[in-house]
Amino acid sequence: MNFSKNFLNLTAIVLLVLSSCSKKEEFQTANINFNKNWQFSKGEISEAIQPNFDDSKWETINVPHDWSIKGPFSKENPSFSRGGWLPTGKSTYRKTFTVPASRKENKVFVYFDGAYRNSVVYINGQKVGYRPMGYIGFEYDLTEHINFDEENVLTVTLDNSEQPGSRWYTGTGIYRDVTLKIRNKTYIPNWSLYVTTPKISKETATINAAFNIKNEFSEATNITAKTIVLKNNVEVVSKENEVTLSPDKAESLNVSIDIENPKLWAPETPELYTVKVQLFNKGELIGEETTRTGIRDLQYSNKTGFSINGVQTKLKGVCLHHAGGPLGSAIYKRTIQRQLEILREMGCNAVRTAHNPFSTEFLEVCDEMGFLVMNEVFDEWEVVKKPATIQDGKKIRIPVKFYADKFKEWADTDLTDFVLRDRNHPSVVMWSIGNEIDQMKTDEGIPIANRLIDIIHKLDDRPVTNGLIGYGWDAWPSEGAAQTSDIRGYNYIKENGLDREDKIAPNAMGIVTECASAQSYYPRSTYLYGKEKEEWWKKLGYTSDDAYKWVEQRELIGYRGVQAWKDIKNRDDIMGQFIWTGWDYLGEVIPFGWPARSSSFAPIDLCGFPKDGYYFYQSQWSDKPMVHIFPHWNLEGMEGKEVTVYAYTNGNEVELFQDGKSLGKQKNNLNNVEYQEWKVTYKPGTLKAISYKYGKEIATKEVKTAGKAAKIELFVRRTNLKADGEDLSYIECTILDKDGNVVPKAANVINFEVTGEASLIGVGNGDNMNLDSFQASSRRAFNGKCLAIIKTTEIEGDIIFKATSEGLETTSIKFTSLK
Ligand code: GAL
Repeated sequence: MNFSKNFLNLTAIVLLVLSSCSKKEEFQTANINFNKNWQFSKGEISEAIQPNFDDSKWETINVPHDWSIKGPFSKENPSFSRGGWLPTGKSTYRKTFTVPASRKENKVFVYFDGAYRNSVVYINGQKVGYRPMGYIGFEYDLTEHINFDEENVLTVTLDNSEQPGSRWYTGTGIYRDVTLKIRNKTYIPNWSLYVTTPKISKETATINAAFNIKNEFSEATNITAKTIVLKNNVEVVSKENEVTLSPDKAESLNVSIDIENPKLWAPETPELYTVKVQLFNKGELIGEETTRTGIRDLQYSNKTGFSINGVQTKLKGVCLHHAGGPLGSAIYKRTIQRQLEILREMGCNAVRTAHNPFSTEFLEVCDEMGFLVMNEVFDEWEVVKKPATIQDGKKIRIPVKFYADKFKEWADTDLTDFVLRDRNHPSVVMWSIGNEIDQMKTDEGIPIANRLIDIIHKLDDRPVTNGLIGYGWDAWPSEGAAQTSDIRGYNYIKENGLDREDKIAPNAMGIVTECASAQSYYPRSTYLYGKEKEEWWKKLGYTSDDAYKWVEQRELIGYRGVQAWKDIKNRDDIMGQFIWTGWDYLGEVIPFGWPARSSSFAPIDLCGFPKDGYYFYQSQWSDKPMVHIFPHWNLEGMEGKEVTVYAYTNGNEVELFQDGKSLGKQKNNLNNVEYQEWKVTYKPGTLKAISYKYGKEIATKEVKTAGKAAKIELFVRRTNLKADGEDLSYIECTILDKDGNVVPKAANVINFEVTGEASLIGVGNGDNMNLDSFQASSRRAFNGKCLAIIKTTEIEGDIIFKATSEGLETTSIKFTSLK
């Protein structure tokens, strides 16, 4: 047996991997980031599977890569409004690399965290695997096909041509991380390390690490497995186990470790521990697997809802889709962090991964930030969904060719891999096996639900739910179907729905898996009155009175959001709610058709700018004192007319002033779900709201009629960036008048210029009807705002970002990018 190529050597050596474009890359660890230098071409090119195929004319790209987002938007694209009118199709990726002969005794694997979709992976012309689902992570063993010390070619073909292929925008490409893994022949296989925390008290906690060790040598071997618990990279405690491994066999180990004075993971204190298992042979380190865990006690009850570490905690949640606005589905850790930072400031503490597996990075960020996750896997079982879509002003139903035809063959495998990949994340507090699954309306779904839930229960002990009740459905699912879930998932409760449910199933646990969709269809900061309003709706095909009424009843105040929170705010038996959605997303533009290309359900637009609904949630979900009033006060044409002014606050009284004159105080009963409104005669000037809590002033908000656009304000959350080629800064641009008031209807075109160690990778403005490319060097502001996204290079240095616009003062901002 050859153990001489030990792990320390492996981590220390510089493994030269030669890319197809002859750039040399240096790798120093056994888990090699394989994101850089792929050759990419659209289309199906069958010869590209052959290793000697010449791809030198192809585009060189880095992963994550989503080529759909480049556009152009077109009414002819078969992805339809459901896919944001963006292009889809077939594509091929190739990566050339060399593994030195010194690795000959090792094993070589490749891991993809997701590739959209129908991926087929080849190594040196040999097929190693196929995965239809584009959201799932998968690993292939390449060892037997690797030519050591010679060029190897990895080819990935994707097929996302069957369209419309989803109810929302998916993106197309290798849009998540790729890792090359080099392991000893004695190793811990992918996802086999499973960490739980079965006993927790203030004084001590038990951490349990279960894992397999596989021996692919043809001789028996003795291994020492050292399980180490670390906190902030410092060892807390460790344990060693001796294992004798038979040839070509795997052994399972279960190691229990007690730690003293554990620091508990909770939304406010997301304390993480690292669990590392190192394998030694005769004292030599030959491999290791690492994961993170959080020590927390989760309780679920039909009386007191959800509790973490003994603290009853309502899930104030949002549903999200996986893509990240102007960058499409090729998103970076920073995209996710910013999304969650903005949500946290809204008072949100939970996310439902609607309706598919998200990236590993997404869950890592949730672990780090203390978000609670309902981890959902499917939107469709065996029956194809036919969602309503507006085409040329008419409502039609088109089947989406998503996953139903793959379900019978692949669901169990995909579900198993999904749970194995994600079960170590402390942020995951429950699983969901579906969303508004048609088969659950009748008993037909029962055996399928039972099978899926069984798969999860065998792998993990967190409870399982299912977004059962569909908006617009006439009936609740059968009681038998509802009983399959550990926690009943309620989508869109109807009037008295929960009381009705209590009568049918008094002991059932429940959560609102989805609610509040379509709080307002108007894009951010859009207030329309009279003729202007009529024109706006007409342009979008709403000529009939019926359609007009359908959308009208939901406008401005976010009626459905208010209603949905009222339903559960004071009910201890319901664990929480997930609103549809936290952020706007591409696709699913109902009730609109062309030229709408993104949804408008959310309190936050596609670029991360809050709408009024954002402040409704802040008033309900956050303790940070706040008051918000709307509309803005540039309502030209409304002089002398009556306008309703609304307020959201978490104070218990709010007073509105117009040009210094009080228009009266109004109560806000904090036990209910309330907002305030005043009828105000519009005239340019100033509106001011003062909010009080038990007599004490807690917050004020002033809205002034703005003058002409004069300057650009730039807002960023950080100016210290990381020179890792993947760090981003989202630069929010707001147009102000000379006195610093936001110009609420400003539509100036802003030009962006980046110098130094970063590049501009995306722009946007949150207008869901705007068909300009997300990849440009300028952007027209929409209602006073637009966004630019820059990405660092791997070189340290300063970055200057400059925003210019004709007639406006130029503004710039300086970043420092360091390793
Ligand atoms: C729900 C569905 C979501 C989304 C939403 C739009 O019924 O579960 O995926 O389509 O409607 O309102």
